[in-house]
Amino acid sequence: MNAEKLKIINMTQSYVQSYIVYVSVELGIFNALFTENMTTHQLAEKLHISESLLKRFMKVLTAMDFVHQKNEMFHLSSLGKLLSQHSDESMESIILFNGRVCMKAWSFFLEGMKMNKSPIELMEGEAFFETNSVSNHRLDTFNQMMRQSSSQLNLDTLFQTRNIVDVKRVIDIGGGAGDVIVKFLKGFYRAEGIVLDKTYIREEAERTIEMHGLTGRCRFIEGDFFLPIENKSDVYILSRILHDWDDHHVNVILRNVAEVMTDKSVLFVIEKLLPEEVNRQTLPAFLEDMHIWAMCNGKERTEKEYAELFRQDHLYISKKHLLDSNIVILEVKKDVQSADEGYGYEICGSL
Ligand SMILES: C[S@@+](CC[C@H](N)C(=O)[O-])C[C@H]1O[C@@H](n2cnc3c(N)ncnc32)[C@H](O)[C@@H]1O
Repeated sequence: MNAEKLKIINMTQSYVQSYIVYVSVELGIFNALFTENMTTHQLAEKLHISESLLKRFMKVLTAMDFVHQKNEMFHLSSLGKLLSQHSDESMESIILFNGRVCMKAWSFFLEGMKMNKSPIELMEGEAFFETNSVSNHRLDTFNQMMRQSSSQLNLDTLFQTRNIVDVKRVIDIGGGAGDVIVKFLKGFYRAEGIVLDKTYIREEAERTIEMHGLTGRCRFIEGDFFLPIENKSDVYILSRILHDWDDHHVNVILRNVAEVMTDKSVLFVIEKLLPEEVNRQTLPAFLEDMHIWAMCNGKERTEKEYAELFRQDHLYISKKHLLDSNIVILEVKKDVQSADEGYGYEICGSL
């Protein structure tokens, strides 16, 4: 087979590897091997699955470098350890979210394209964040995944060169389980914090606040970012919110925030930016754009696209902080003149 045909085959069959990884996490293979090396026989007994099938499956995991075998015993490689819930840098929840929710939703992609309707809506019959139930399998798995990625955000550089003392209140709009605001409150150490989100996540957010010893300084309020914001603050946070929504919904969210902002307040927008150039190197960003559409009818945007959305509400980017993994924090301010003049701002950090 020539190289081009092989490239196409590899691209179109990568779902096989996705399922292998997802199923091994779901079966508990990495958790079982994290604490104890085992033979296939022992592992099959522990997981209640066919030994002969597991033998074939373990060959794939060995070839993928997730496990190594010595004599009859299997142990985890450094890659395999990352897929166990016992690892400090565990990726278990993102794999489970991919397998339980995303991979299923993607099977509706063709219908979604034809009907211009997000695949998740076709699968679930409701939009991703639309649920009235307190517990929802999709959102529960999603929150675990978000928590893992939020806990890895490093915001230290954000507080180095600013007036921290005058910040009296920070509100995290769509703040989820509270993992982002606790980082902000560490920096803005004199401020009180508010997590505004939907009721289903209240308990988890309150647990996070308590775990960080912030019960006296931070509270959860049930709210809807499509309605006017009642709590005026010095600092507003929109972390991984705007990319979940189409332009129309983003306009509403930004208008609500802009309405309560003054020329002294700051809005921190945490997002990944879509590159301007389209090529093989930037492919992952464009795949993520399709993915966010498939999952919640959302959209990844270039910096210019964000700047244009901000401009409509007299908001402008005053600073850009570059964090790890292509995530940026756009520091957004309100001022009619600067918003109209376009941008020329400071960049802090490097990718
Ligand atoms: C992608 S998560 C981001 C969570 C958090 N900001 C972070 O960065 O980890 C999106 C959050 O928006 C919340 N959300 C969705 N629709 C909302 C609405 N109408 N009003 C308030 N929060 C909402 C969800 O419950 C979820 O916690």
